[in-house]
Amino acid sequence: MKPLQNAYSHTYATTEHVAIDLSLSENPLGPSPKVIDAINRAAKTAHLYPDQEKKLIALIAQHHQIAEESILLGAGANQLLEDFLKVFALRKRLVVPSATFPESVACMSTLQGAVDTVSLHSNFSLDLDALLKACQPDTGFIHLCNPNNPTGIWTEPSHLLQLADLSPVPLLISEAGADFLGQTMINRSLPSNIIVVRSFSKAYGLAGLRIGYSVASPEIIMRMNGHLRSYRVNSVAIAAAIAAIQDQDYLRKSIAYILREKAWLMREMSALGFKIVSSQGQNFIAQVPEKWGNANHFCAIAKQYEIAVVNCSLYPGLDQYIRISPQTHVINKKFILILKKIQGGK
Ligand SMILES: Cc1ncc(COP(=O)(O)O)c(C=O)c1O
Repeated sequence: MKPLQNAYSHTYATTEHVAIDLSLSENPLGPSPKVIDAINRAAKTAHLYPDQEKKLIALIAQHHQIAEESILLGAGANQLLEDFLKVFALRKRLVVPSATFPESVACMSTLQGAVDTVSLHSNFSLDLDALLKACQPDTGFIHLCNPNNPTGIWTEPSHLLQLADLSPVPLLISEAGADFLGQTMINRSLPSNIIVVRSFSKAYGLAGLRIGYSVASPEIIMRMNGHLRSYRVNSVAIAAAIAAIQDQDYLRKSIAYILREKAWLMREMSALGFKIVSSQGQNFIAQVPEKWGNANHFCAIAKQYEIAVVNCSLYPGLDQYIRISPQTHVINKKFILILKKIQGGK
């Protein structure tokens, strides 16, 4: 099996601006107006150290109906993933699906650990039995995403609970995109061997502020707090997240918009010969039509038109797939128009 290697950040997360960027899962509507007000207010006290962490934790606890002691804030789901790995998986092994959000894999080389990748089922769903079988005595975690990234496929929480029940190691579950389903593993009776990581970057529209949270047993959170330094999350991000979680109407509006655009893009691309893999998340993957060759070729042509999508050829078996994240309707329409133009000229 081909290892994932350190293919991540620089292949996947571009920092260069392109005109039509469907590569990053962002909220194309931007943050809620109430969040913008909160950011402006917080900017005036940016000279003070953050003091609203507890308020945000209380709101998250209320939102999920869980204890405040089970919550840890971080500068995005990414930072939290890295923190958990640093504390619990130094020089250990990590078991991941062969197509997953690659950040944890990238961390493991810094942590002098190793990664065992497990193929997906042929319908791209996670092979939970194989993830279990891949665990070794020195495995630190099974890390998976729900919905999975890049596929957007949701795994039923009841199946993950069964996996946790059988697993010799804790499950680290990234639910960065779970707001789009309105479903979560998080509840009062989360088993102590499950850690869930969530993000304010996607549906809440705060990607640029870098804020997220994780939920685990109070014992794990206490242990994390003992290892981590103070003030890991900035006061403006905290103020924005407080306003965002209190504006659930805007969250619902954003989710409805993004899912509508996703459905529109799926229909349009399907009509152009792309084979769409149905997804429950914000993003979806599509197999490029034969006349485009593979994803590398598609992405090279797209680049000439200032289009960016995720090139899934960094994942074993997905070299014909691209991942699409909807943007505004105007941008999505431009994308489809350009595809039509290029296909017409072929
Ligand atoms: C599954 C998964 N986990 C984590 C992240 C990173 O989220 P954040 O922006 O909160 O660091 C992403 C972003 O795409 C993701 O898809």
